[in-house]
This record gives sequence, structure tokens and C-alpha cells, in this order.
Amino acid sequence: MTSRSQSPSARPPGFTFREVKGSHTGQSALHCESVALAKLSARYGTPLYVYSTTTIRERYAAFDAAFRGIPHTICYSVKANSNLSILRLLAKKGCGFDVVSGGELERVLIGDRKAAKKVVFSGVGKTREELVAALKAGIFLFNVESESELEALAESAGRLRKTAPVALRVNPDVAAETHPYISTGLRKHKFGVPIREARVLYANAADIPYLKVRGVSVHIGSQITDVAPFGESMARVADLVRELRSDGHTIDSIDAGGGLGITYDKPSPNEFSAQVKAYARALSTPLAGLGVRLLLEPGRSIVGPAGVLLTSVVYRKQNDGKRFLIVDAAMNDLIRPALYGAQHEIVPVMQSTASSNTEITDIVGPVCETGDFFARDRELPQVNEGGLLAILDAGAYGMVLASNYNTRPRPAEILVAGKSAKIIRRRETLADLLRAER
Ligand code: LLP
Repeated sequence: MTSRSQSPSARPPGFTFREVKGSHTGQSALHCESVALAKLSARYGTPLYVYSTTTIRERYAAFDAAFRGIPHTICYSVKANSNLSILRLLAKKGCGFDVVSGGELERVLIGDRKAAKKVVFSGVGKTREELVAALKAGIFLFNVESESELEALAESAGRLRKTAPVALRVNPDVAAETHPYISTGLRKHKFGVPIREARVLYANAADIPYLKVRGVSVHIGSQITDVAPFGESMARVADLVRELRSDGHTIDSIDAGGGLGITYDKPSPNEFSAQVKAYARALSTPLAGLGVRLLLEPGRSIVGPAGVLLTSVVYRKQNDGKRFLIVDAAMNDLIRPALYGAQHEIVPVMQSTASSNTEITDIVGPVCETGDFFARDRELPQVNEGGLLAILDAGAYGMVLASNYNTRPRPAEILVAGKSAKIIRRRETLADLLRAER
């Protein structure tokens, strides 16, 4: 076996292989905390998302601790995984939320109505209905992305006789190495307002009734593992804050966005606290002496490694010597490999320490597209039909991006805490899918 396919000890602590008691063949089984994944698949079927409560809590705590030196609020980015139980779990820890739609706001409010005061609302295309809902909820900050949006927000606030707290999202023109679809901080991207034009826009905003300028916000992209671009963008924002203050604006918060990446393509050792400390240093250093509250919008770095997608092998197949494992999950359940060429590590849930038979195979779903794959030419211990695989690091941008393509009901979701496993979203049925149609 390769070290890549057999890396039990290197997984985040939420997912570990444990020896199967009484097995003579030296079998070990992947567990989420104290629950065997094979048991969950037998009970709830596959494909199945499984999340570890402890991993989410620990990563949130490590993130929070890394920013101890600076006043800060963590606003978890709901888009990464918006399951109500996960939102509730984070709200209980005192976490705030970054939302990008009226739907996400509604989820946060259902989870914990009081969390509204720690909500920031981002996004280039907020509709008037969404602005009104957020104003009524009394959210903490609107991250506004255009002059037209400033006007729409002022108009909505005026009608409600409320004052809207505003930050402008600036585009710092900083390049960050990531997939082009999720890089956002360059001039050519649709996001934010150019940082060079920000002073004029702030001056306009300050003159508009029902708006209260509070801060500056920025987000340069997602899945960024080098912390240097974050520091560079913060340095530009810090300069802007000094200019804005000299123009007479009160700027008391900087929203640094999200974007801290995780390791997908090789085992990620438990190094998160060191990584997030380096990230905190990169962000805080340029802010020294500014006396601002730092808002943070992490998504993936909190929940990504806390989830797996379990899938069963339906068929083994060989075409002209090329091997395929056809599994029961597909691109509609987890689109990251198809959309971004993401390389999620995949491991058989049952592993035998005695056998060392590996094979090179593609792992593909049943959807009628060549793009429906989870891995290509991957070395994997041999798995039989009916065998169970775990696609790792699927806690972020997995279920939230799932669709019903090919009229496939979306998977169930399970949240594990120690020995307990709760179903936090039942599997969809065909009736669910057909309900809205006539
Ligand atoms: N804040 C804003 C304004 C964002 O646009 C995003 C992500 C975040 C925070 C959270 O970023 P994170 O910490 O999770 O990197 N579907 C893609 C990722 C899209 C990210 C979109 N924006 C993927 O699966 O890689």
C-alpha cells in the first residue's frame, strides 16, 4: 500500500482507523470519532455525508485562539456548509455568520435568532427583498459592493426608518494562487469596488441618509494556502483606513473575508493551529496600532476536514485495461473534482494491514458525463463491489453544492459527537424532488 492510501494516523483527529476487535486478518475500520463509518452506511445507506462535531469545535477554537491578540469576531461563512445543526453548534460557541443570501440569513435566524447581531451580509447582487430582511433582523454589517447597492440599501433603510451599518468591499488587486473560479481579488473580477476609487465612494456614502459607514471589507479568494497575499491585501486596506480616517470617516472594523485553504491531495497532519497562527500574524501585523475590530469569514478551514462523503462501490469495470470503480455517489453529490479539478483523498473504509494489493483506478459516479469523476488514475487498495469508500475533506462545499442532476435525491447528513450519531438531514426522496412540479 502507498503511504497516501494508508494514512490513518495523519488524518484530522475526527477520522481515524481503529483495529477491528477479534479480526485475525489485521483489519482496521475508519471511524468518525467513536462511530464506525461502516455502521452508519449500514443504517443510513450511501451516499452519506458524515461530520465530526469535535473537529468543527476544535478548529473553531484554534482559529479563535490564533487571533487572541486582536479584538475580533469570527463570522463563519455559511455557504461552506449551511446545515442548521452545524450553524447551531457554532452559534453556541459564540460564532457570528457571513451570509450571502436571504436564504442563508433565514438559516442563521432559525438556528439562533440572537446571532443576527453578529451577521455580516456579503455578495454582489443583494436584492431589495434581501436587504429589507437583513435590516429587519438587525444585522451587524452590510458589505456593500457597488454604488447602486449603496442607493438600494439607503432606500430600503429609509423606508424602514433604520440606519444601515455599512462597509465597502474593496478589491485590493492582489493575486492569490488558487483555482481561477475562486480567486476574487483582482481588478478583472466582479467583486468589490476598486481600492483606488474607494475614497470617493466613501465620501458619497457618508452623505447618504440612513447609512452609517463603519468599516472596510475585503476577500481575495478561497482555498489559498500561502498566507502572504492575505498580508499584502491587509496592508493595502490598512493604508486605506488611514486615508479614510483623515477624510473624517469613523472606521472601526475591517472584515478580512475568508479564504484560508486546507490540504486536500495529501494527508493533512494536525497542523491547523500552526497554520492559522501564521495566517493571524499575516493579517494582524499590518493592522498594528489601527485599533480596529477584525472580522473574519472562514468557511472551509473550519468545516472542510470535518466531513467525509461515504460511497459504495456499485461495479468494478475494465475498459481496454483501464480500471474503473463505479460508485453510488456522483458529481451531483460532490462537484469539487468535476468543477475545480479538486483532488480529494479517498480511502477504503475497511483496510487490511496484512494485504498490500493496490491498483491504479479511476473512481467515477453513474452520471452521464465524462466529468463525473472523483479521482483519476489513483492508487488505491483493492476494493470489491459493495465495498465502502470515504472521500475525505468533504465537509465544505460538498452538500451545499449538491444538486438533483439526473433526478438523483441528495444524500443524508449525519453529525457525530463521540459515540453518538444524529441524522441532521434526511435523505431526499423522489417525492421531495417531484413535489414542486405539475
Ligand atoms: N467570504 C466571502 C465574501 C466569500 O466569497 C467566501 C467564499 C468566504 C468568505 C469563505 O471562504 P473560505 O474560507 O471557505 O475559503 N465552491 C468553492 C469555494 C467557493 C468560495 C466562495 N467564497 C470550492 O469548493 O472550492
